[in-house]
Amino acid sequence: MTENHDLELLQTPGAVFFIFGATGDLAKRKLFPAIYSLYREGKLAEDFAVIGVARRPRTQEEFREDVFHSIQEFCRYKTENDDRFRAFAEHFEYKSLDINNVDGFRELNDQTVALEERYHIPGNRLFYLALAPELFGSVSSNLQKGGMLNSAGWKRLVIEKPFGYDLKSAEELNEQIRQVFKEEEIYRIDHYLGKEMVQNIEVIRFANAFFEPLWNNKHIANVQITLSETVGVEERGGYYDHAGALRDMGQNHMLQMLTMIAMEPPSRLLPEDIRDEKVKVLRSLRPYANAEEVKKNVVRGQYVQGSSRGKDLPAYRDEEKVDPESNTETYYMARVFVDNFRWAGVPFYIRTGKRLPVKTTEVVVEFKGMPNNVYLGKKYKLEPNLLVIRVNPMEGIYVKINAKRPGSESEIEPLAMDFCQSCMVGINSPEAYERLLHDAARGDSTYFTRWDEVATAWSFVDRIAEAWKQDPEGPLQYPAGSWGPKEADQLLAEDGFHWWPVNGQEEDDVVWEVNK
Ligand code: BG6
Repeated sequence: MTENHDLELLQTPGAVFFIFGATGDLAKRKLFPAIYSLYREGKLAEDFAVIGVARRPRTQEEFREDVFHSIQEFCRYKTENDDRFRAFAEHFEYKSLDINNVDGFRELNDQTVALEERYHIPGNRLFYLALAPELFGSVSSNLQKGGMLNSAGWKRLVIEKPFGYDLKSAEELNEQIRQVFKEEEIYRIDHYLGKEMVQNIEVIRFANAFFEPLWNNKHIANVQITLSETVGVEERGGYYDHAGALRDMGQNHMLQMLTMIAMEPPSRLLPEDIRDEKVKVLRSLRPYANAEEVKKNVVRGQYVQGSSRGKDLPAYRDEEKVDPESNTETYYMARVFVDNFRWAGVPFYIRTGKRLPVKTTEVVVEFKGMPNNVYLGKKYKLEPNLLVIRVNPMEGIYVKINAKRPGSESEIEPLAMDFCQSCMVGINSPEAYERLLHDAARGDSTYFTRWDEVATAWSFVDRIAEAWKQDPEGPLQYPAGSWGPKEADQLLAEDGFHWWPVNGQEEDDVVWEVNK
């Protein structure tokens, strides 16, 4: 296959991209830079246009300036404000729009038709709603009423999380969108699924002869999934205080990562087959039967004043736009079981939190120890084998194995076979949003969440939220800059395990004195 042929396969068909919420943070930090990277890599040819839509008045020149600055600041490709960039920016237009006004959508349609003619775009339209979910319904309906969906090509709706607040509100939201778009036209973003190493999980599992045979309860002792963040809630206190860690990360990113680890091999590498397997995992999650079960298996915490690297950090309740008596959790950890043949009895420990000591996303698969009656196990204290998948910010994989200490007759020590993808020169992994925009424009929905995944994830999470609502005790406290409530460590210790240190974690932070 020639390089040109590869590029043709990768190239998006001509389309107009509508960015609703074009003056917002997501557009600035992620979407404009993503479009530019796709263009630079030839994945977007000349037959495209972008219309930024927001309420605020903005001239075309001002908008293109915004796009330029966002690329300068956030894109992995830098640009000069030169002829080449100006040619790219010509494809961008702005439309100030009140999303409740259908006439505005008619004007938008006229503007779109003109761009489609100019750039020979065959009527393909991708609507990216970087907006609060409350607005998804009215935007969808006005897109239809304003004639925006009557063009010749395909129409796709790309939407951001949070998709609802619980199952009921998610159903209502889905209902509104489905009045206008078919399920296969809806692309629900979970940006974790766009991360290079999350997608790599599938390849590592299914393309290597030595993992798949071991990938089950006979050989795996437990799986630890950590999504830790050093940041607090920044300027998102208003949203976050309503959502909390469970809804912000737990319902979506964490369960999605778990499905990638736990799913069965799909029968074909097609989006629906892969998503079928993921939804089966979600259906196999053991639901917590009652509030007591939730208490036994789930830890929620909220950060209080603390410090990190010599810097004082405020308590969550003192953050901007947060209720000073808030009981919202900023830390969530759960012991989860996937009740199927492959995973019966294997605990999955999942945790996330704000204001933890390091920013990292990692999966640690801990293998069962060697049987003690084998001579090595009797003679030495062997560490278990680990497979660690580093997702972010470091990308890589390492396998921890036991080997003889060189020159010694009696010592065995764990050593790491480390593949550090981010250390490789010349590797400039695409950003999650780049992949996802690219996939949506090519009609590949593999790494987007289907409605049944969203609904099943909510059913699991709703039981936890419900139990917390009834619990007068509120979240446990942890100092900002620490690893969260100690109860999370105890939960693993009950099963005879401990958290393995994640990348960047000081060894002495770790609780080692656990009997195994
Ligand atoms: C978002 C959450 O979905 O993911 C944020 O709303 C969180 O609260 C972010 O900070 C983390 O994403 P990443 O890619 O930086 O790990």
